[in-house]
Amino acid sequence: MSATDTSALRSSRRVIVAPSLLAADFGRAADEVAAVEAAGADWLHLDVMDGHFVPNLSFGPQLIKALRPRTRMTFDVHLMIAPVDQYLAAFAEAGADHINLHIEAGPNTHRSLQVVKSLGLKAGIALNPATMAEAVAPVLDLADLILVMTVNPGFGGQSFLHSQLDKIARLRRMVAATGRDIRIVVDGGIDPATARLVIEAGADTLVAGTSIFAQPDYAAAIAALRGDATGRHAA
Ligand code: DX5
Ligand code: ZN
Repeated sequence: MSATDTSALRSSRRVIVAPSLLAADFGRAADEVAAVEAAGADWLHLDVMDGHFVPNLSFGPQLIKALRPRTRMTFDVHLMIAPVDQYLAAFAEAGADHINLHIEAGPNTHRSLQVVKSLGLKAGIALNPATMAEAVAPVLDLADLILVMTVNPGFGGQSFLHSQLDKIARLRRMVAATGRDIRIVVDGGIDPATARLVIEAGADTLVAGTSIFAQPDYAAAIAALRGDATGRHAA
């Protein structure tokens, strides 16, 4: 593969779309979840913020537990909290299927990922924009998911950071070298245009808040993300 040819990085797997609840109407949370499920979403992305690791607060396990019986979607929980270890069991009990934790959130990422796996959940390693792809190498054997932040974590509605595309491509090569089934998830500023870019770079899963929940037609919004992502977009 030449330096400019990225076609080999594109995953042949179906693109997964995970709406981020952060952009939904919290007053109608259960209805919003049902609406994106009916609109074709695969996973529900749940952003937990502590006002410390990131400069914002969102929600905790109680809301996740309340939503769990309302949908069959996979719950992809993104913990933007530090320290993280003492809360992992609570999120498992609340109904998380995946727990993504930040490699920057503390000195014991390896142990934290072991705990997530011991709870019977899929484990994700989240990377802030300033963190190198290579930081995941020592813990890649414990990862089921890599969550690449394409904005600085803490808020929805921010602009996509194009500087992260090279990191996605590096991670795709690292994952390919393992021969393991590790999904590369992107989170932040994903719309139909940036979805195309991240898929070309090697991502296979799209988290999207604003570009779904701020649209009048959730099914059309999800189809636009998936369509662009798979090259079936209108010219
Ligand atoms: C940001 C969160 C994202 C956020 C994405 O810290 O991790 O999941 O909801 O929102 P959009 O898609 O609006 O950038
Ligand atoms: Zn997120």
